[in-house]
Amino acid sequence: MIDLHSHILPETDDGAESFVESLEIIKKVEELGVKELIATPHYFEGVYNRNFEENMKTLIELNIYLKENDLNFKVYLGNEVYICPNIITLLEDKAITTLNNSRYLLMEFPMMDIPTYAKDIIYELKLRGIVPIIAHPERNEKIVENPNILYDFINMGVLAQLNLGSLVGQYGSKVRETAEILVEHNMIHFLGNDIHSSKLDFNIIDKGMRILKRKVGEEKFEEIKNTNAQLVLDDKPIDIEEPKRYVEKGRFKTLTSYFLNQIKRVSL
Ligand SMILES: [Fe+2]
Repeated sequence: MIDLHSHILPETDDGAESFVESLEIIKKVEELGVKELIATPHYFEGVYNRNFEENMKTLIELNIYLKENDLNFKVYLGNEVYICPNIITLLEDKAITTLNNSRYLLMEFPMMDIPTYAKDIIYELKLRGIVPIIAHPERNEKIVENPNILYDFINMGVLAQLNLGSLVGQYGSKVRETAEILVEHNMIHFLGNDIHSSKLDFNIIDKGMRILKRKVGEEKFEEIKNTNAQLVLDDKPIDIEEPKRYVEKGRFKTLTSYFLNQIKRVSL
């Protein structure tokens, strides 16, 4: 697996606190089949403002540290950018960076909301050839309420990254159900573990992968697990399968019984 979303960069944000902790995390995830990681430190205006140059310096130090410890493992750099109106300026000023300097930008929505300007930002990014990847959409409350919000974004050219932990209930049952819906409706294109600490229950990686494979089948699993992320690292275009609009089962049942009742009325 190529992990597209991690807070593995030491002494940077609320993730790994030291080089020792980064090493510990990498050893654990490597055992579970993670081959490469993209470090995606938070960029959140007024909270986490470490810029590209500072993060790159730490990344180089980390990769040297891994080699010194006989670990043949490469970490790449990106950001998890909290959506804000001036995202384009931040990119131009090199305050933030795309994933491995590609056309793909990992972007985070607030947990409880989607800003009204989100569509404008997506449009502006696409206009400049940048493809936004929404980080863990299954955790956003608005998308939990209505998964088709993501369907509309995908039709605007956005891609989406799932946290494996969501599939095993790490964030509760509603997030788990939403994760399943998104996966089943072709709305997920990448995986991440959003690792912040060596104290994580790393079994979620294995469990999450098994659930995903069962749900989507071998071919699609490989695409989500490796192929698409490799295309990101290589800055190549990604062909995606059409997303499917979600129809709520409860609502569908109600509609079906409504039409059945109408038919009964006509036949009476
Ligand atoms: Fe994150």
